[in-house]
Amino acid sequence: MTGTVNLQQAEEAINKAKKEVNNRFRLGYHIMAPANWINDPNGFVQFKGAFHVFYQHHPYSTDWGPMHWGHVISKDLVNWEHLPIALAPGDYCDKDGCFSGSAVDNDGELTLIYTGHHYVDKDKDLFYQNQNIAVSSDGVHFDKVIENPVISAPPPDSSQHFRDPKVWKHEDHWYMVVGNSSKDETGRVILYRSINLRNWDYIGVLAESDGTNGYMWECPDFFEIGGKYVLMISPQGMDAKDDCYNNLFQTGYLVGDYSYDTNTFNHGAFKELDYGHDFYAVQTLKDDNGRRIAIGWMDMWESYMPTKEDGWCGALTLPREITLDGQDRIRMNPVDELELLRLDENTICHKKVTSKSIAAETTEDLLEIKAVIDLASSNTKNIQMKISYSCGQHTLITYDAEREKLILSVAGGKGLRSVALKNSGQLLLRIYLDRSSIEIFANHGEATMTSRIYPEGNRRELTLLSNGEFTVNEFTYWKLKDIWK
Ligand code: FRU
Repeated sequence: MTGTVNLQQAEEAINKAKKEVNNRFRLGYHIMAPANWINDPNGFVQFKGAFHVFYQHHPYSTDWGPMHWGHVISKDLVNWEHLPIALAPGDYCDKDGCFSGSAVDNDGELTLIYTGHHYVDKDKDLFYQNQNIAVSSDGVHFDKVIENPVISAPPPDSSQHFRDPKVWKHEDHWYMVVGNSSKDETGRVILYRSINLRNWDYIGVLAESDGTNGYMWECPDFFEIGGKYVLMISPQGMDAKDDCYNNLFQTGYLVGDYSYDTNTFNHGAFKELDYGHDFYAVQTLKDDNGRRIAIGWMDMWESYMPTKEDGWCGALTLPREITLDGQDRIRMNPVDELELLRLDENTICHKKVTSKSIAAETTEDLLEIKAVIDLASSNTKNIQMKISYSCGQHTLITYDAEREKLILSVAGGKGLRSVALKNSGQLLLRIYLDRSSIEIFANHGEATMTSRIYPEGNRRELTLLSNGEFTVNEFTYWKLKDIWK
């Protein structure tokens, strides 16, 4: 019964803490906890028609601590509601934390598969991790099963890092990928198979680092899309290289061909998924309409998180639809449902205008911005979208058409981020601005950049500018709805 008592205490703590939250940076249309710390999205699943997202949560503090699973639900991927905390740690199988994992609909039983975390020494350098299951028929209240742990230890050639199970069904079997590190500190993903979600057979290594891709691969996800297989991973320990891998840890993917019969995954090189400052631990689902949708943690370990002073910390990204292009590159685009957020539309220009600067001013803080620039007929090599705040901060998005790069500059000492973006003659920018985040989707998801920003003041100026003349086909912004009010 420890679990139930811990859940009640956690719920009381969060109900108390939410009364103390300062709203200045609270997001208007992103998933957050009512208060206190969150990190990875977990258990992203569609169950009995509704979308469920769980998240790593510490209900007692704005810092990371013994991990619980927070829980939100939505009918449309846009309007989310909090449900009671789903998992609390403290049982024999998950003494020091319910770490990341996934969810499946097992014939009407919502099943969570998660990592139990256990410290074995006081200074917390030594721990062990196992895999566990909790089930629910109503999708709200979960029971940990008596068979836990369903996988008690990793294979013998493994280090202590053994976490973040992602489970899916293929033909008659359940499959599970787990994030792992070998004894010699090579990041890798290992594969298990089961017929009943309780008894698991170890199949082997699905993929591992070639020596350049880090010492530990967290949060794996493996799925088929467009006739190929994609392994998404969040490696720790990659060195920065030019525009790539500039955050503390990365999230990216491998694309290739896979054989279930022989467990062989022939794949290409690791590619980064999002080039902003704050994107990690992504998880996907295939929805009832066959779309592959991804949600990530919209922060990065050890980065500047001023909302801790405000009684909360951490958020998830918008849901993004994933597709694979002809060059085996993933594109991420905001799901169509996000148009439900749109309130007032403001068209700054909707037909060809040639200028050096076009500006609009607004007091709205939840915005979607769309700009279509005709680069082919512009007399400039450099075009910028500048978002200036009344506090004096600004966020600058620059497209350098000569170097074919999109560059993001945000305030707060976070440094620049840039990503290659081909000059196709037209630049399409779709930007979602929330009170403390920006998500940029360029050229139909060819490049995305996600970052946390912390501006204050109630006025924003949106300016398209350049040192030469440019031609704009469309420049529109929408005031967006606050789903939490
Ligand atoms: C990724 C991660 C996971 C782990 C969880 C703990 O951000 O480190 O590997 O399960 O966070 O909160």
